[in-house]
Amino acid sequence: MATTIGILTAGGDSPGLNAAIRAIGKTAARAHNMQVFGFLDGFRGVMENRTIRLDSDQLSGILTKGGTILGTSRDKPHRMEVGDQVLDMTAAMIENCRMLGIDALVCLGGGGTQKNAFRLSKAGMPLVTLPKTIDNDVAMTERTFGFDTALAIATEAVDRLHSTAHSHHRIMVVEVMGHNTGWLALGAGIAGGADVVLIPEIPYDVEKVAESLLARKSGGSRFSIVAVSEGSWSREEAATYAGLRERRGSASSEKARNAAKTALGEFVAGQQDSTARISRQLQSLTGLESRVTILGHVQRGGTPSPVDRLLATRLGAEAAQAVADEDFGIMIASQGGEAVRVPLSKVAGKRRTVPLDHPWIQTARQLGMSLGD
Ligand code: F6P
Repeated sequence: MATTIGILTAGGDSPGLNAAIRAIGKTAARAHNMQVFGFLDGFRGVMENRTIRLDSDQLSGILTKGGTILGTSRDKPHRMEVGDQVLDMTAAMIENCRMLGIDALVCLGGGGTQKNAFRLSKAGMPLVTLPKTIDNDVAMTERTFGFDTALAIATEAVDRLHSTAHSHHRIMVVEVMGHNTGWLALGAGIAGGADVVLIPEIPYDVEKVAESLLARKSGGSRFSIVAVSEGSWSREEAATYAGLRERRGSASSEKARNAAKTALGEFVAGQQDSTARISRQLQSLTGLESRVTILGHVQRGGTPSPVDRLLATRLGAEAAQAVADEDFGIMIASQGGEAVRVPLSKVAGKRRTVPLDHPWIQTARQLGMSLGD
């Protein structure tokens, strides 16, 4: 039976992480009499043996705090920067845990962390994961904690843009985070009453978007709100990307593969200011003044919502229970309101995008919102 556990938070921070750390720690200590440590700064802390003891003092007063008391990083165990080298530190990290007397890890993170944890788990580390990210894109769970808080922040931004858009008769283009999935933009767009929502799952036609804005103008509406998920792309851009991937996949020589890789890299870099490009295109196609707001990391900051605290606490308590049961190599998911154990093999390397027949998409269309297609 595991007696000492280590918790780490990896990837982008997310509201609800501290609530989860608290729930894991309290359940492990109170219900199972375990000792609890936290590794600092994600997987890097495991490599560098940087831990803190998480006793009741450390776990007290953190439920409502944003961010993560443990710090985080995007380091990967199998590609860790050490000095000026990039090394596979998987085995060394498992050995560190053994030396520190850590019997099991609980890794809190999004899609990247699930992949990294699965690698560690296959290499022999007993571990359990939790799904956190504002993007809501982790496979096998209906919700990730952090999403609800970010949705509220993005929705408030859309709400607030209405009055200034109305006063100036402008198009307001607002970029919402989402890491190539449209959950946040679609949710905030519907909840905030945006007129157009662009998401990566539905490549857009900018002419169609412009038509919908001009139709609003003809109908007497003197402003429009366009919510754009980061990672949104036009039909042409989506086709170019697919072509470049195909080129890379079918390259017959190292040279051709490298050329395709470079072209892909350049394409991705060029997409970074795509929201500003959309705004410029809409201004030019409609003749209406357009402004851009990029919400960025504001969406990840501050106090977690009650819904996120509740979810993080329920999943965290179940993670400690799974460790006590010695049920490893799993993620604790939220399915049908239950905390459910799912094998990491079904989560790692998969992304949960918005299905095209999702009820939110149907609702948006029923309301006459443009999705750019
Ligand atoms: O995964 C969470 C997220 O906020 C994404 O929405 C966004 O694409 C990314 O992280 C930003 O990462 P960073 O904080 O490293 O800039």
